[in-house]
Amino acid sequence: MGYLSIDKKKITSKTFVELKQAGEKITMLTAYDYTTAGIIDAAGIDGILVGDSASNVMAGNETTLPISIDQMIYHARAVARACKHCLVVCDMPFGSYQVSREEGVRNAVRMMKETGVDALKMEGGIEIADTIRGIIDAGIPVMGHLGLTPQSVHKFGGYGLRAKEEAEAEKLLNDARTLDAVGCFAITLEKVPAKLAEEVTKSVSCATIGIGAGSGTDGQILVYADALGMTQGFKPKFLRHFADVNKCMTDGVQEYIHTVKACSFPNIDESY
Ligand code: KIV
Repeated sequence: MGYLSIDKKKITSKTFVELKQAGEKITMLTAYDYTTAGIIDAAGIDGILVGDSASNVMAGNETTLPISIDQMIYHARAVARACKHCLVVCDMPFGSYQVSREEGVRNAVRMMKETGVDALKMEGGIEIADTIRGIIDAGIPVMGHLGLTPQSVHKFGGYGLRAKEEAEAEKLLNDARTLDAVGCFAITLEKVPAKLAEEVTKSVSCATIGIGAGSGTDGQILVYADALGMTQGFKPKFLRHFADVNKCMTDGVQEYIHTVKACSFPNIDESY
């Protein structure tokens, strides 16, 4: 018996809800470029997020705040072009949906038109519910994002665990119910206690995708460069390395340098 996700030709936002209902875990990673997205898609992932973490991973910024709509469109278009099977979700960047519902809907429509992705993701709860409703009404599937929402890092004062206290946990649960009620097909839960993430998962009909939220969510997401061991010196408790790509690339680059310096690349067979 195959996995429901692998049996399907093209994964849609509806598939995510079906996977939840079938009790099959949903797998997601981020990607920001054509080559990496092609590898991840061909490996059989359910969803790729073109995260605004591109600001950190691709551009070396401290936060996700500086990345622009144009830059997100550039990354998302490349990823969408590579993916044949998985659902492609793109983050709406900071400032593109917080000002007004009208501006949020206009930017969301532009991002869908110019990228070819399948869905958009936005950070926040009840305060952006009306904008999310407008975007869904325009025919665009939306993934919410609660808990540690990196676009609000300056408000939180860092990247620590969220919703430890009862009041914040209660707000998060209400926010999740609101996002579910307005029609989000999924909600990312980032860096929240496992027990709370499990409670949210049982309280909503949409799929929950956790990062640092324990094993009780409907699926998991990681930043690909972290999961595959490319980033150095970043090893929060929730992260596991599934490969050592940093070592693999370093070895390959050093072998290339050594071979060129030793005049053994290119050889006769590699020359015209
Ligand atoms: O931008 C991103 O990579 C994200 C994930 C951490 C969920 O939002």
